Amino acid sequence: MDTFLAVASKRDWRSYADRPVPEDVQRRILDAGRLSGSSQNKQPWTFVVVESAEAKARLAELVYMEANVRTCAFAVAIATGGGKFPLDVGRAMQNMMLAAWNDGVVSCPNGMPDPEAAARALGLDEGSLPINIPSFGYPKRPLDPESKSAQDWSAEANRKVLDELVRRL
Ligand SMILES: Cc1cc2nc3c(=O)[nH]c(=O)nc-3n(C[C@H](O)[C@H](O)[C@H](O)COP(=O)(O)O)c2cc1C
Repeated sequence: MDTFLAVASKRDWRSYADRPVPEDVQRRILDAGRLSGSSQNKQPWTFVVVESAEAKARLAELVYMEANVRTCAFAVAIATGGGKFPLDVGRAMQNMMLAAWNDGVVSCPNGMPDPEAAARALGLDEGSLPINIPSFGYPKRPLDPESKSAQDWSAEANRKVLDELVRRL
């Protein structure tokens, strides 16, 4: 998929088909996270894949939108020491999401009110905290990003108008 079309057509998706994402597709998604640039190339993250029904149900109770994690094919908790480096984590998360979308897999970020409780449920090392836990899965109906142009996706996105955001010096 053209990169701009991928960016323009990617929406955060909260309902998932009841079928697994194959191992090779999961691996590509995780590799997109691994490949992300980070400050001083510290790669401060750990990725915890949550895919068993029991683990998803336990974690679902600890995020804001329970159904996202309970019904997804898998979620990836992205954790760092002390929950630091949120920008680095954001880059890794978005790269994972775009790689997923390229394979027809939809996704949604998941925040949580109590990262310490989520860290315990995830079995993280002492001091390591999840920053976000994106959920992934196939959509219930197939979605076709190529059904519209990137310009059309951009025009219909629920976003502020570009000229409101951009200032030039
Ligand atoms: C840092 C961050 C945290 C978010 N947390 C949640 C969340 O906890 N639950 C959820 O359903 N969506 C969450 N979202 C998704 C936003 O609601 C979504 O990006 C926004 O509404 C735009 O959605 P759209 O791309 O489908 O238009 C989060 C997004 C970001 C960037």
